[in-house]
Parts: sequence; C-alpha cells; structure tokens
Amino acid sequence: MKVLITGAGGMLGRALSSCLETREHEVKGFPREALDVTNFHQVMEVVLNEKPELVIHAGAYTKVDQAESEPDLAYLINGYGTENIAVACSRLDIPMLYVSTDYVFDGESTRPYHPWDSTGPISVYGKTKLAGERAVRNLLNKFYIVRTSWLYGPNGRNFVDTIHQMATDGKVLRVVSDQFGSPTCTLTLSETIADLIMTKRWGVYHGTDGGVTNWYEFAKEIVQDMRVPVQPIATKDMPRPATRPKYSVLDNTSLIHTIEREMVPWKEALSMYLSMKKEKQPV
Ligand SMILES: NC(=O)c1ccc[n+]([C@@H]2O[C@H](COP(=O)([O-])OP(=O)(O)OC[C@H]3O[C@@H](n4cnc5c(N)ncnc54)[C@H](OP(=O)(O)O)[C@@H]3O)[C@@H](O)[C@H]2O)c1
Repeated sequence: MKVLITGAGGMLGRALSSCLETREHEVKGFPREALDVTNFHQVMEVVLNEKPELVIHAGAYTKVDQAESEPDLAYLINGYGTENIAVACSRLDIPMLYVSTDYVFDGESTRPYHPWDSTGPISVYGKTKLAGERAVRNLLNKFYIVRTSWLYGPNGRNFVDTIHQMATDGKVLRVVSDQFGSPTCTLTLSETIADLIMTKRWGVYHGTDGGVTNWYEFAKEIVQDMRVPVQPIATKDMPRPATRPKYSVLDNTSLIHTIEREMVPWKEALSMYLSMKKEKQPV
C-alpha cells in the first residue's frame, strides 16, 4: 500500500515509517517541515500530488502542560490541522488513520474505557485531540481512530528515557502512584497499526500494550536493574499545569478481535525496549 505519514519526524511517526517499510509498504513520510498540517493549501497540494492509498496522521501538538497556556495553537494543530488532512482524504476518497489519546476521557471510570464510552477531556490537550476525532468522524466514512496511551520509544522525549537518565545521573526519583494507565511502546503500537490497516474495518479502536500500572510502578520497572530507589508520591504533591486523568486504562478488546491477536504485555515491551537501548550504548 502507498501510505502517507504526517509528523514523520516524531517519535511514533518514525517508528511507523520503519515498521511499514519493513512490511514492504511504499511509505511517504512527511515531517513537519515538509508538511505543516495547519497549511490547508500545502496539505491539499502534497496529498493530492502523492495520491496515497491511506494517510496516517501522526503529527500533533503533544506538549500536554504547555497546551494549557497556548490553547489556540494546540487547537489549530490538533483540531483544524486534522480537519485539513480529513478534507484531503475525502477529496481522494481514501481512508485516514488518526492517532488519538486516552486523555479524551475524564479518568473517573472504575473499569477500562471502551471505544464507545462517553468522552470528557479534562485538559486542553485532550479537548484538542477530541476536536480532531470529531473532524475525522464528520468528514469521512472510511477512517480508523486509534486511541493509545503513555507512549515511549526511540527518537523522542519520553518517560522511560527521562527516568533512565535520572537514575544514571544519581537523581532522586519521586513518581506519582495514583494515576493508572497502560504504557505503550511505539514499536509495538506500530506493529498493531500495521495489522489494523490491512483489515479495512473502519472505526474507533483502543490500542495500548497489555496490562495496567501506575507511573511509580512503571518507573520501578524501568530502573529495576539499576538498584535505584523510587519514592511514590501523590499527584497533589506534584502540581502541573494540565490535569491528568486518574484512571485512563483503555479496553483493547475490539482491536484484539479485529487483528486476531493479543496485545504485547507492557512489561515485555518495556524489557525489549530497554535491551535495545543497552545495545546502542557505547561501551
Ligand atoms: N506521547 C504520548 O504519550 C501519546 C499518548 C497518546 C497519544 N499520542 C498521540 O500519538 C501521536 C504521536 O505522538 P508522539 O508521541 O510521536 O509525539 P511527537 O514525538 O511530539 O510527534 C509529533 C510530531 O508532530 C509534529 N507536528 C507538530 N505540529 C505539526 C504540524 N503543524 N504539522 C505537521 N506536523 C506537526 C511534531 O513536529 P515538531 O517536533 O517539529 O513540533 C512532531 O514531529 C500524536 O497524535 C499524539 O497525540 C501520544
């Protein structure tokens, strides 16, 4: 398949590009410099010229805390920018895959969220990503919306690398233990997306690595070979500009049925990523 990827310079964009290339798709990856989704004319020109069979929209405004102080920019990129991509897909009558987030939920649930549960974002970032979802649903019949959570992987700012670096530098690790979710590696998510796009079963999906944890337990798992102590703290003791959902576990069942395989457990994916990191370190 000829697949155009937006945000191809980002953490997920890069992982997706190499995964789809390995599966012998023709990948046209556009980093922000080559395709700014807020520029309607550029979007139309690039997408209509390339004539892909599918667009994967992985480009986004992802600074969750900063979004609270620059909501207009966050909406411009995540809402209007996503709408532009959807318009171009509609013009070509091709499907679009939009990567969304667990932050579209309010975190008050006591069981994993289903794709059809009511949304209720509590941060600007979550609201702007939901605006993107709405644009996709309103403009297209053939789409996948894949909500994922707590992403980490090569080539990007992420929790795993930050905690690992802090532990290496001998810094004190104090991590919140009262927010629950599912860490997800961009490498496993890319494989999942690669499986999903072959199905042509349009709809809203939840796609995370398997299992549930909190940030404190996640941090302990990251540094388990380093014998570094991690201290649990409460969210209220670490105020941040954006409120995070207390519980944003996503139920992957419909995706599992659609791609006909289980999700990789989060500890397994993390261990694979940490081994990769170790191999790359200079001796
Ligand atoms: N990270 C997470 O924990 C997480 C969780 C759930 C869902 N997601 C979603 O997963 C997707 C990928 O996120 P990620 O973690 O890979 O984030 P990322 O590394 O920040 O990648 C996003 C990419 O989008 C680019 N971008 C920003 N504005 C753009 C614009 N106007 N036009 C085109 N591209 C633009 C960024 O470029 P610059 O770097 O130059 O700004 C960046 O390369 C996003 O849709 C995000 O909302 C992420």
